[in-house]
Amino acid sequence: MIEKIKAHIEDVKAFSTSKLEELEAFKNKFLSKKSGILNDFFKEFKNVPVEGKKEFGQVINNLKNSVEEKFAELKEKIEAQNEKKVELDLSLPGENINLGSQHPITVVRREMLDIFEKIGFVTIDSPEIDDDFHNFTALNFPPEHPARDMQDTFFVEKNPDVVLRTHTSNGQIRFMENHKPPFKVVIPGRTYRNEDISARSHFMFHQIEGLYVDENVSFIDLKQTLLYFAKEFFGPKTKVRFRPSYFPFTEPSAEMDVTCSICGGEGCNVCKYTGWLEILGSGMVDPNVLENVGIDSKKYSGYAFGMGIERIVMLKYGVKDIRYFFENDMRFLSQFENL
Ligand code: DAH
Repeated sequence: MIEKIKAHIEDVKAFSTSKLEELEAFKNKFLSKKSGILNDFFKEFKNVPVEGKKEFGQVINNLKNSVEEKFAELKEKIEAQNEKKVELDLSLPGENINLGSQHPITVVRREMLDIFEKIGFVTIDSPEIDDDFHNFTALNFPPEHPARDMQDTFFVEKNPDVVLRTHTSNGQIRFMENHKPPFKVVIPGRTYRNEDISARSHFMFHQIEGLYVDENVSFIDLKQTLLYFAKEFFGPKTKVRFRPSYFPFTEPSAEMDVTCSICGGEGCNVCKYTGWLEILGSGMVDPNVLENVGIDSKKYSGYAFGMGIERIVMLKYGVKDIRYFFENDMRFLSQFENL
């Protein structure tokens, strides 16, 4: 009997295959609970005389171990070979890698900043949480101005001196406090207003602010810069027009319209059949603002402008509802993948 088992061990050691099915069959032949060879030997165990039991047990165990070892060794080999085959099959189609994409606000902000950077503006940062002085007072807002009301502004922890900035214009003050003219900066950032959410307004949005201060800066400089921006961004045929307006921090102030980029000025539902779209506020920096930050308003003058990024994306791509920007819906976002 022992000789028979030893012969099996030799067979096991000599066994080889490159097929997984054959390997499984080999294992089952010895180890199957119902019909395996080992099972038969185990059954035999009780008939073996006591003095032979030890040796018999050892030999059966040897057989069992050698089957398991062989199985593991061949399995590893076969699997390694299969893997290699896949690796080398250059004709297999590639895997789809989902790269994701940038948010349309991010893409358009970059595009807008690039246009200004090309003509010498430097992009700078400024705080989203600021004090009353930088968001309002230094910008020449009178104490009773309605924007300072709880209705319009978010105050941090109900402290009337700490606000979520209502515009990026606070960046003008922050920058001018620490720099001497001449300078030309653009300031992108998030802004907050206590407004109900609707298709046209949101409590959070993005702006880009521009500021240029030097000797002899005039309204012509402002107009030419913004005309250049409009043509670069909306296309070379774009025209602009300025309408008088009011902002506490600029004098004179103007809002700028561009010819509708959807209908080219013919009139459509995006421009409400006027052919024009309002895209920004602007003006000559009020001398009071320059004095508030210690810049001599007799020597220096400047212009400033500010525009909402959401609004510009909506106008350029015909997005009808501002809420889409903040819902993270892939059906919306994936439309901007190739920008
Ligand atoms: N801060 C204004 C707003 O949020 C936009 C603005 C208008 C900015 C005129 C300016 C400017 O710099 O000159 O409505």
